[in-house]
Amino acid sequence: MKRIYLDHAATTPVDPRVVEAMLPYFHEVFGNPSSLHAIGQEARRTIEDVRERIASFLAAKPEEIIFTSGGTESDNTAIKGVAYAMEDKGNHIITSSIEHHAVLETCRYLEKHGFHVIYLRNDKSGLVDPDDVRRAITAKTVLISIMHANNEIGTIEPIAEIGEIARQRGIFFHTDAVQTFGHLPLNVNELNVDLLSASAHKLYGPKGIGILYVREGTRMVSFLHGGEQERGRRASTHNVPGIAGLGKAIELAREMMDKEARRLTSLRDKMIKGIQESIDDTILNGHPVKRLPNNINVSIGYIEGEAIILNLDREGIACATGSACTSSSMEPSHVLTAIGIPHDFVHGSLRLTMGRATSEEDIDYVLEVLPRIVDKLRSISPVKRTF
Ligand SMILES: Cc1ncc(COP(=O)(O)O)c(C=O)c1O
Repeated sequence: MKRIYLDHAATTPVDPRVVEAMLPYFHEVFGNPSSLHAIGQEARRTIEDVRERIASFLAAKPEEIIFTSGGTESDNTAIKGVAYAMEDKGNHIITSSIEHHAVLETCRYLEKHGFHVIYLRNDKSGLVDPDDVRRAITAKTVLISIMHANNEIGTIEPIAEIGEIARQRGIFFHTDAVQTFGHLPLNVNELNVDLLSASAHKLYGPKGIGILYVREGTRMVSFLHGGEQERGRRASTHNVPGIAGLGKAIELAREMMDKEARRLTSLRDKMIKGIQESIDDTILNGHPVKRLPNNINVSIGYIEGEAIILNLDREGIACATGSACTSSSMEPSHVLTAIGIPHDFVHGSLRLTMGRATSEEDIDYVLEVLPRIVDKLRSISPVKRTF
């Protein structure tokens, strides 16, 4: 059976060229980068090369890049790290309601430890209003954290504008760029960010490796104490194969990013139009234009997202639902709830996220199969249509 993978927001396959770049670091250049012998120093050189490559991609300085275990660690480190370092100045943090759990749960943890967090409301398309950020700032605000693009609905936030506000008020600004790193141009100076999280497994790199960009002069405490790795900001022996893989992944992404974004945008718009034309009672979740090139998220009225996913899987199509993906409960996702998707629709949410292997034929196949599945499910749906 034909297999079509449309869940690239969850993770991407590792590019074979990335695997090849990683292999020598398991058994040839396996030395500990902190060791003084040649085999250790060769590993160290690779780490520093990759650091420079990432810094150049972000228009940052190499010493502003910290290697971490992924997006979750980067988000935790940025938020808790700045919050605890700034405790003498204030205890107020601003974020939005549709952030990834790595940000939201970190904020909830801080709330239990004396911090106050404002969760700004996003509009119906998922956008944060920079004026809301301005209004939420108090004399005690020490950190603002707003994601670059949402992992469920793909909405791209006005980061540069929010960053400008943060800068004017002297407040540190973090963005979770896990969904955009390697997919969209990212310049930390143009975006006015002080901290930025990214993860390799979203850009055809390996799992378990990521980065945190920390602008020089940003106050941040460390959480992993031990060796002197990462200038004492993150102890533990480096994941050298992972770092080598991330380096190759960002090199490849940089080469193909612009062309790929244009190609995916056109496929995305074709898929959205096709779904809206062939299935009635659907809602496009997220912003129609300010959205990730590879993201399609629709709510299909009066049926369950899980049933759609399982039926699509039987036809060889792998994708995600916003209805029950984050836990085994049937609670709709916090993102769809926050943007106010009506009850009859929120349970029938479908997220299709395309990637480098996605072709026009794949889109045509989904557009052929999906309406059939929806018809079948609606014919047996116990949910009564309300109009
Ligand atoms: C927006 C966002 N932030 C953070 C994460 C967590 O990243 P990681 O899986 O590398 O810990 C993800 C992963 O899905 C994400 O999409």
